[in-house]
Amino acid sequence: MNRLEELRRRHAAAEAGGGAERRERQHQAGKLSARERIELLLDEGTFEELDKLVRHRCRDFGMDEQLIDGDGFVTGYGEIHGRLVYVFAQDFTVFGGSLSEANAQKICKIMDLALKNGAPVIGLNDSGGARIQEGVLSLAGYAEIFLRNTLASGVIPQISAIMGPCAGGAVYSPAITDFVFMVDGTSYMFVTGPDVIKTVTHEDVTKEKLGGPVTHNTVSGVGHFIAPDDAECLRMIRQLLEYLPQNNREDPPRKPCTDPADRQEPRLDTIVPEDPTLPYDMKEVIRLVVDDGEFFEVHEHFARNLVVGFARLDGRPVGVVANQPAHLAGCLDINSSVKGARFVRFCDAFNIPILTFEDVPGFLPGTDQEYGGIIRHGAKLLYAYAEATVPKITVITRKAYGGAYCVMGSKHLRTDVNYAWPTAEIAVMGPEAAVEIVYRRELAAASDREAVRRQKIAEFRDRFANPFVAAERGFVDDVIEPRQTRPRVIRALRMLENKVDTMPRKKHGNIPL
Ligand code: HXC
Repeated sequence: MNRLEELRRRHAAAEAGGGAERRERQHQAGKLSARERIELLLDEGTFEELDKLVRHRCRDFGMDEQLIDGDGFVTGYGEIHGRLVYVFAQDFTVFGGSLSEANAQKICKIMDLALKNGAPVIGLNDSGGARIQEGVLSLAGYAEIFLRNTLASGVIPQISAIMGPCAGGAVYSPAITDFVFMVDGTSYMFVTGPDVIKTVTHEDVTKEKLGGPVTHNTVSGVGHFIAPDDAECLRMIRQLLEYLPQNNREDPPRKPCTDPADRQEPRLDTIVPEDPTLPYDMKEVIRLVVDDGEFFEVHEHFARNLVVGFARLDGRPVGVVANQPAHLAGCLDINSSVKGARFVRFCDAFNIPILTFEDVPGFLPGTDQEYGGIIRHGAKLLYAYAEATVPKITVITRKAYGGAYCVMGSKHLRTDVNYAWPTAEIAVMGPEAAVEIVYRRELAAASDREAVRRQKIAEFRDRFANPFVAAERGFVDDVIEPRQTRPRVIRALRMLENKVDTMPRKKHGNIPL
C-alpha cells in the first residue's frame, strides 16, 4: 500500500471511530457523534483537526489489537462567529470515550495552544472516565488537564458541555471551567455513582436524580445551562461566546447597536409596586434597560433570588447582577452569594463591565443558613465586588438594607457610578424591624401599641428608608427617574470606557472559600 493510500485509510478509520454499530447506538440514545457535534458547534468548514493519527500505547489486556486512529478524542481548532476557538470532543464509541495517556496529551496540546494564542477552549464531554486498562497513566492524564484548566483560568474562557456520562475525578475538569452546559436526558455528573452510594450509605438514587442536568442546574449549581438536546446545547455555546472576549487582554466584542442609547422607558416608572412588600420581576427591569431587550441568563434555574447574565448596552457586553424580589423577596443566601461571586469574578477577569440592579431586604435568616456558613459564603460576593476593577455601575431600585447594601456593589466597594430610583430605601434594616428594636420600651409601655408602632414606622420610613440620605452623602451619585435608567447607565459606561484601576501587589488574595 502506498503512503497516500495508507493515510486515507487511517483518516477514514479515525473518522469511523468505534464503528457504525456503536455510532447507531449513540444515535439511538439521543446523542450525536463527536464529529457531528463539532460540525454543529463551529462555523461551517472551519474545523482543522490535530492528532488524528495518534494511537494509544497500552499493550495490556489485549489492547494492542484494538488500535483506533485518533484514540477516540477529536481535537483541533476552528471558528465560531469568525473567531478562533479550540475544541475537543470525546467519542463514546471508542472505549466509551475513556481517557488514555495518549488522548489526554491531545487535549493538553490544544489547551497549551489556546493559552499561547489567547482563544477559548470548548470541551465536549461524553466519557466513561479513566481508561481502566491504562491505570495510573490515565490518572496522570487527568491531572495534566486539571493543571492546564487551572493555569488557563482567568486567561481564556473555558467552556464544558456534558453530553453523556462524566463521572469520578473526571468531573473536576469541567468544574474548574467557567461554564458547564448539560444536555437533558443524556448527561450526568457525579463523583461516586449510585452503586457505590448504595453500598456505602444504603441510599437508593438514580443516575438522573443524583447527577442529572436538573439536579445540577437547580440544586448543586454545578451546571450553568440545561439544553433539551445536543444541537441546542451547541447553539447555546455559540450564543454565549458572542458576549466574551477571546482572552483577558481583549475587550469583549462590540456589536453595532440600533436600539437608541437615549431611549427612555416610561414603563420603569411604575414597575416597582407602591406596597414595599409586593414583588415584581427584576428580569423585566433588565430587559427594559438593555439593548433590544436581549438578556442571556446564566445559572437561570439555580438560586433564583439572584439573577446573573449577559446583555449589551450601546452594543457593548455587560455582566448583569440583580436581586430578584420575585423569589425569596430577593434575599441573599448561601447559593446566591456563591453564584454572584463566581459571575462577578468571571466578568472582572474578562474585562466585562458589571451592572448591578439592587433590591435586597438583607441576608436570609435561619439556622440552615448560619450553620451552612452564610458568613463565609456571603463574604465571597462582597470580596468579588470589592476586588473587581472593571467598570462597575449600580442602580438601587428599591431595598438596600444592612450588610446586603454594602455587598451589592455599593460605592464603598469602589463602584464607579451608583444611582438610586426615588423608590429606593437605603437603611440598616427595614422600618418594621428597626422600630421593634429602637422603640422597644415605648412600644411595651404604650396603651395602643399598634397605633404607636405604625406611627414610628411611618416616621422611620420618612427619615431613613429613602434614597436622599445616601445621596446627600454622595454614596449614590444621583437619584434618577426610572425611565432614564438606560441613557444614564450608557453615559456612565461611555465615561468609564478607559477605566484603569489596580490591586495592591500580591501573589493572590485569600477569598474565603
Ligand atoms: C475503558 C470503557 C470504560 C472505561 C466504558 N468503557 N467505560 N473502557 N475504560 N472507563 C467501554 C466499555 O467496555 C464498552 O466497550 C464501551 O465503553 C461502552 O460501555 P458500556 O458499558 O457498554 O456503555 P453504557 O451501558 O452506556 O455505560 C456507560 C458507563 C459504563 C456508565 C460509562 O461503561 C461505566 O460504568 N463505565 C465505567 C465507569 C468508571 O467507573 N470509570 C472510571 C471512573 S473513575 P465495548 O467494546 O463493549 O463497546 C475515573 C477517575 C478519574 O474516571 C480520576 C481523575 C482524577
